[in-house]
Amino acid sequence: MYVITGATGNTGSVVARRLLAKGEKVRVIGRTAARLQALASEGAEPFMAELTDAVGLAKAFAGARGVYLMIPPSLTSQDYLAYQDRVTAALAQAVEEAGVQYAVTLSSVGADKPEKTGPVVGLQRLEERLNQISGLNVLHLRAGYFMENTLAQVNLIKTLGFAAGPLRADLKIPMIAAHDIGEAAAEALLRLDFTGSQTRELLGQRDLDFREVTQIIGKAIGKPKLSYVWASDDQVRAGMMQVGWSRNSADLILEMSAAMNAGYMRPLEERSAKNTTPTSYETFVAERFVPLFQGRAATAETDL
Ligand SMILES: NC(=O)c1ccc[n+]([C@@H]2O[C@H](COP(=O)([O-])OP(=O)(O)OC[C@H]3O[C@@H](n4cnc5c(N)ncnc54)[C@H](OP(=O)(O)O)[C@@H]3O)[C@@H](O)[C@H]2O)c1
Repeated sequence: MYVITGATGNTGSVVARRLLAKGEKVRVIGRTAARLQALASEGAEPFMAELTDAVGLAKAFAGARGVYLMIPPSLTSQDYLAYQDRVTAALAQAVEEAGVQYAVTLSSVGADKPEKTGPVVGLQRLEERLNQISGLNVLHLRAGYFMENTLAQVNLIKTLGFAAGPLRADLKIPMIAAHDIGEAAAEALLRLDFTGSQTRELLGQRDLDFREVTQIIGKAIGKPKLSYVWASDDQVRAGMMQVGWSRNSADLILEMSAAMNAGYMRPLEERSAKNTTPTSYETFVAERFVPLFQGRAATAETDL
């Protein structure tokens, strides 16, 4: 039996469904029965727990062959890093108490750095804490920049007429579809071929910069002259707070963006078949961006 945290989310839902499709028993964690219902009807065992509740999580992890661990974004938090630390403490305590032997985590490119990478600092601390658990084999998947982040451009393009963001227009970064992360995590959980503490970067299909991202979006939505503006910190902060982010969360994203723009936060691995995943940005735009832009999809995920 496998246990999946964040099971209704971008990556966890893919992990759960892939394992179910392989005939595995899967326990899915979420906060409400209603949101877990779809996975339950597909054969998963729903389990309600807060990811800050070590006691509840230890019960959820009991008897697991392997667990998928992630820290959900909490964009309204006044102290995002403290929230991440609380989730890490609960996950680690539950792993220890339940005697879990295999865990796959959702981490990030940049989690090698202990500071100045915004929310990725919390993922570095998650890695470190789990690495200290004796008897645990843990694989940290250090993912690149989610393609889903670019769904926030839908509203910007509609309201401003151009794309905008905190990253330099010519900064080439690995961009990955969350779906591909879920597939890689499920594969790792099925194989369980990692020992001790390991990291693996997941770099998407290719590196892209926002100039190219904007060209691809523009072509797909019939605005071939769509432009991208590298926005100032003040503009980005104001935009994020306008859609409900806390100042603290917005400032952490700005810190991360500065770390990326400066080349401080970057992949450590050379691109290879092992860290390259299939979904191209063109495919992502056709399947996710265009329907959202045309009002054919329910919501945009703007989490980081
Ligand atoms: N965006 C990027 O570029 C990027 C890059 C690298 C790494 N990451 C990392 O990826 C992670 C996000 O992954 P994701 O996109 O798969 O997450 P997600 O789609 O936001 O899913 C999170 C899920 O967690 C559940 N959840 C939220 N708060 C919870 C709580 N307090 N207790 C229990 N469950 C809770 C929610 O389910 P319910 O509502 O059903 O409870 C939600 O579906 C973050 O750690 C982020 O730092 C992001």
